Amino acid sequence: MFVSHLESAIDGTQLPANQLQTMHADRPLWVRYNLNAVGRWFEKEKLRDREPTMWRYRELLPLPNGVRPVSLGEGMTPILECERLGEEFGLRDVWIKDESHLPTGSFKSRGLAMAITMAKHFRVKRVALPSAGNAGGAAAAYAARAGMECFVFMPEDTPVINQYECQLAGAKTFLVNGLINDCGKIVRQGKEAMGWFDLSTLKEPYRIEGKKTMGLELAEQFDWQLPDVILYPTGGGTGLIGMWKAFEELRELGLLESKKMPRMVSVQSTGCAPIATAFDRGERFAEPFPNAATIASGIRVPAAVGDFMILDAVRASKGLALSVEESRIREWLELTCRLEGIAVCPETAACVGALESLTARGWIKRNDRVVIFNTGAAQKYVEAIRSDLPRLNMNSSIDWERLASGAGSLPSTSHVVALTHSEVVVAEEAAPVPVESVADVAELPTITVTETLPVEAPEGLPV
Ligand SMILES: Cc1ncc(COP(=O)(O)O)c(C=O)c1O
Repeated sequence: MFVSHLESAIDGTQLPANQLQTMHADRPLWVRYNLNAVGRWFEKEKLRDREPTMWRYRELLPLPNGVRPVSLGEGMTPILECERLGEEFGLRDVWIKDESHLPTGSFKSRGLAMAITMAKHFRVKRVALPSAGNAGGAAAAYAARAGMECFVFMPEDTPVINQYECQLAGAKTFLVNGLINDCGKIVRQGKEAMGWFDLSTLKEPYRIEGKKTMGLELAEQFDWQLPDVILYPTGGGTGLIGMWKAFEELRELGLLESKKMPRMVSVQSTGCAPIATAFDRGERFAEPFPNAATIASGIRVPAAVGDFMILDAVRASKGLALSVEESRIREWLELTCRLEGIAVCPETAACVGALESLTARGWIKRNDRVVIFNTGAAQKYVEAIRSDLPRLNMNSSIDWERLASGAGSLPSTSHVVALTHSEVVVAEEAAPVPVESVADVAELPTITVTETLPVEAPEGLPV
């Protein structure tokens, strides 16, 4: 194990890595390595004989010697060339790295496999976290695997699959009538009474290290030459921050074949765009975003404790942060699934929107190599992808011409075109059917936040 220490991201204070740590001055910690020692030991050729999982990069992971990871088989995810999607926007070199292949159907498996492994190593028995959805599912699964107790708090309109997956894995799962920040508040408030370890995004140092493997894997898959542009959906920011950290470590180790670093693009929705707003204003810290609402639940994070880390990474890479039109996310989702057969989540669909907009602006050029991360499986978002199929009447003859155009012979009912924080919008085609609210479908305990809960900045955030 080559970890030298932990380092405060806000003021550089060093902390020992041989004990359980959380934050410093209410801000996240970096895991730092003795890169000279890593460089002496690690050679790319060594990877050839290693399992194709995230653990193959062990020299750049905090896993202590002799400790077995808590694993569900985090295999390397495919990097898929997308000629048809590229052509749609006049681009020649577009790729999707498909993280939906991971054990819990999203990239969250990487971070939580690492965080739970380390928590177990430090003898934690009970963890808690707020979640926009996929992190809760992954935490629940890895906690189950580790024999750890897990408490998950989610906004009540979190996709139902996320709710069910947590409960199935035995996590004590609660729906909260608020946003993820309100859920985070419950985790903070309960710390003393419940004695749980706070696994919230960036409130422990190891999730970033797990997410970092996305960047290491991408570099290896592209023969150690990084792409020109990376489009990444941003909520709490661990994915983007982790990947940029991976690239910097690879550069420092001299492992990259080309000096080129990718321009990192932090993608948000107009329904929740704190980072994009701060970027436009030239600020390092983001204001909490009011009335956050987006179909892309994973990026519905109105205030991120690592805002400055996201913005620093984006700026250091000469990239940018932007928001795309919320009402078009479903359109980009369908486009990508139809053109490439890759079931992208709404968060990734927003990145396709960014591809469209940045290409139109000339910021992405025809020959740029662009990588979009599909951070989760579309199948986990039943409310967002719901549609009614054409129906056929088996008692009458089939009109083949109609059928060829995709139409059925019975009236279809309705389909959901958008899901926002508080409402489900239904496009009527014929007779509308009621769409159950998420809270009706899931029979999870609901926590009512009685006091008024303004969207608050994380503790210590200079607003
Ligand atoms: C599918 C999906 N994409 C993107 C994100 C945002 O991830 P990050 O917190 O790394 O910014 C999330 C977070 O929940 C997610 O579930």
